[in-house]
Amino acid sequence: MEENKTMDRRSFIERLGGLGLAGAAAAAFPWVEACSPAANKEVAREKARIGMIGPGSRGYFHLENMKQIPQAEVVALCDIYEPNLQHASELYPEAKLYRDYRKMLEDPNVDCVVITTPLFRHFQMAMDAMDAGKNVFCEKAMAYTIDECYQMYMKHLQTGKILFIGQQRLFDPKYLKAMSGVLAGNYGPVVNVRNYWFRNGDWRRDVPSPELERHINWRLYREYSRGLMTELACHQIQNGTWATGMLPSQVMGSGSIIYWKDGREVFDNVACIYTFPNGVNMTFESVISNAHWGMGEQILCKDAMVDLPGSRVYLEEPPRKSGIESLIAEIEEGIFSNSAFAGTSFSAENGSKDKGIAIMPEADGDGSVEIMQAFCNACITGKMPDKVLEEAYYGSVFSLLGDEALLQQKTLSLDEKYYLPTYKGRNGA
Ligand SMILES: NC(=O)c1ccc[n+]([C@@H]2O[C@H](COP(=O)([O-])OP(=O)(O)OC[C@H]3O[C@@H](n4cnc5c(N)ncnc54)[C@H](O)[C@@H]3O)[C@@H](O)[C@H]2O)c1
Repeated sequence: MEENKTMDRRSFIERLGGLGLAGAAAAAFPWVEACSPAANKEVAREKARIGMIGPGSRGYFHLENMKQIPQAEVVALCDIYEPNLQHASELYPEAKLYRDYRKMLEDPNVDCVVITTPLFRHFQMAMDAMDAGKNVFCEKAMAYTIDECYQMYMKHLQTGKILFIGQQRLFDPKYLKAMSGVLAGNYGPVVNVRNYWFRNGDWRRDVPSPELERHINWRLYREYSRGLMTELACHQIQNGTWATGMLPSQVMGSGSIIYWKDGREVFDNVACIYTFPNGVNMTFESVISNAHWGMGEQILCKDAMVDLPGSRVYLEEPPRKSGIESLIAEIEEGIFSNSAFAGTSFSAENGSKDKGIAIMPEADGDGSVEIMQAFCNACITGKMPDKVLEEAYYGSVFSLLGDEALLQQKTLSLDEKYYLPTYKGRNGA
C-alpha cells in the first residue's frame, strides 16, 4: 500500500517535468529542479536523517508525508507535550525521543531538523540548529519579527546550511502551471491580485485541562502568534510578489476583533492593501465569522482572471459558445430579465458568468510532499535551490509588515535594510 502511494507520488512529481517549465518559467521557478525526477535519481540511495521539533498538527502531517519520501529517515522526535510526542512515536517507533530540542541538536545522528513549533519558537530553534551544523526546514511563517527573519536568512548564508520555509505553494504544480502562464504574459499585464480567506469558526482547539489553554491555543495570543497574518496571509501574500516580480512598496489596512470576543488577542477580521511600485494593488481579507466566500487567490490580468487554487483561467472575452449553448443561455437569461418596456434605471454589474478553462484538471496534493522531498534532496546534496528561500522570506516579511500596519494603523513600507542582497532592484527598478 505504502509502495503504491510512493509510486503515485512519483508520477505526480514527474508531471512537474511535463509542465513545460522551460525558458522564462524555468528561470522563474529554479527551485522546482530540486524535486525533479533527475534530482530524485541523483540521491536515490541516500537518506536525510531527520529530527523533528514539535510534532503537533502540522508536524504529524509532515511525518505521515515522509513515509512517501524514500530519502526521508526520521531518526529523532522532540516535544515538550508528552501526548504529541507519544503520538508521533507510534508512527516512528524507532526514532529517539527528546524533551529538550537542544539535546536533540547534539545528536550526531541527526543531519537536519524540521521545526513545526508555534511561531514564536521558530527563530531561536532555527538559529540554534544552524549553529549546531544542522540543515533546517522551518514551518511558515518564518519568524515572529521581520528582524528575526532577516537574521535567519543571514545565518543560512554564514553557515551555508540549507534553510527551507514551509511555503508549499511554491512546489504545487497547479500554482506553478498557472503562474507560468501569468509570467509568460499570456493573459496581459497583471492589474490586481486578490487574496481572501473566509471561515466560520472560533479557530480554537479542544484543551484537555485549563492550564494548557495557551500551549494548545497559542495562535490566539499575541505573545506567540501574529494571528491571521502569519497563519493564513503569508501563503497568499507571496502570490503578488511572484506574479508581478516586484515587492510591495507599501501596505495599509485595518484589523479588529469583530465577533470572537472570547479573551483572544489576535484579530478575527483583517483587510490589507499592498501596493506595488507600478501602482498595482494586492488585497488580503480574512474574516472568521462568515465562510461564504471561502478561500480565494486570484491574479487579475488585463485579458483574463487566473484562479490559482481552482486552477482555472477566465478570459475577459470567452470563446464563442456553440449554437445550442447560446440558445440555452438566452432562454435562461430571458426568463429572469425585465420586460422590454419597463427596464430598470440601474442593474448591478454581475461580472462574467463564464465557466472558465481548466489549467491543470488532474492536479492533486498541495505541494507539501514535493517541498519536503526537495528539502531532503538538498540536505543530501548540500545544494540550496535557487530563490526558494528568498520567495518564502518575502512572504513572511510582508505578512509581518501587514500585521504591523494593522497594529500601528499606519501605512508602512519595508525598511531597505531588509531587502535581501540577491534581490536589490526587484522593487520595481
Ligand atoms: N504550511 C502550512 O500549510 C501549515 C499548516 C498548518 C500549520 N503550519 C505551521 O506549523 C507550525 C505549527 O502549527 P501546528 O498547528 O502544528 O501547531 P501545534 O500546536 O499543533 O503543534 C506545535 C507543537 O510544538 C510543540 N512545542 C511547543 N513548544 C515546544 C518546545 N519548546 N519544544 C518542543 N516542542 C514544542 C507543541 O507541544 C506541539 O506539539 C506553525 O508555525 C504553523 O503556522 C503550517
